[in-house]
Amino acid sequence: MKKVYGVIGDPIEHSLSPVMQNAAFDKMKMDCIYLAFNVKAEALKEAVLGAKSLGIDGLNITIPHKENVIPFLDVDPLAKKIGAVNTIDLRTNTGYNTDGLGAKKALEAHDVDVGGKNVVLVGAGGAAKAIAFQLAADGAHITIVNRTRSRAIDLANSIDSPKVTGVGLNELNSNVKDADILINSTSVGMYPNVDGSILTSDRMHPDLTVFDIVYNPIETKMLRAAKRSGAKTIDGVMMLVHQGAESFKIWTGKKPPIDVMEKAVRGALQNR
Ligand code: ATR
Repeated sequence: MKKVYGVIGDPIEHSLSPVMQNAAFDKMKMDCIYLAFNVKAEALKEAVLGAKSLGIDGLNITIPHKENVIPFLDVDPLAKKIGAVNTIDLRTNTGYNTDGLGAKKALEAHDVDVGGKNVVLVGAGGAAKAIAFQLAADGAHITIVNRTRSRAIDLANSIDSPKVTGVGLNELNSNVKDADILINSTSVGMYPNVDGSILTSDRMHPDLTVFDIVYNPIETKMLRAAKRSGAKTIDGVMMLVHQGAESFKIWTGKKPPIDVMEKAVRGALQNR
């Protein structure tokens, strides 16, 4: 019988996960389908329990439910620390967070290892949190830089590692000078505010890898600046694809075709 997977969120109609996951299922000739479900906050518990009753094996969870879904699940230790779940294995009722792992795998796919590296992570929201916990676990030295300095400090403190510190945006330039990796995990540069960039090219350098988790537009103003400076660039499509690939692995135990998923996402974005 066909297996059903899906993503629940509100709004959900712009999710790229169905096109991405179905491309992987098709390529691997798996009799599976991935659907998007719009679920209101008040129906979240019923949706998760109902999905399990219907025999759905796995779900992705997106905005605004990533935190609120936790009480209905067993949660793995990393997702518990992050305080957010983006993947559920309904067979075991376990919640995971693959966002940080997705960022790490996107870097690795570009031959960038994070262990021992100096990472400047801009932002202190949900995405930043997932990335910070993952990269800290992998031995990176992380400076969290945020517009609201207190949020950067709070996030750094919650990770509780001497390798992680939090500072305000006024310390971005000085930290990037010695950084190996710069990650934008804020919404700066995202459609419709495409003229935003956290940094200009004269502050970047050729030894830097610049990774933007924004994928709309695919090439943000920050990534264009990074290219001009000679830095290596990684776009937000790669984070999306790798976090989805990690979900796929959890549900199926199989390694999905990353290139096929990436092509599906880039194609869908170009047709918008
Ligand atoms: P998410 O969960 O998607 O990461 P979030 O919790 O709203 O979203 O966090 C958004 C992040 O982008 C925050 O770090 C925010 O900075 P503040 O903590 O100061 O709000 C950052 N951000 C959003 N717009 C920004 C801007 N114009 N300049 C700098 N940082 C910005």
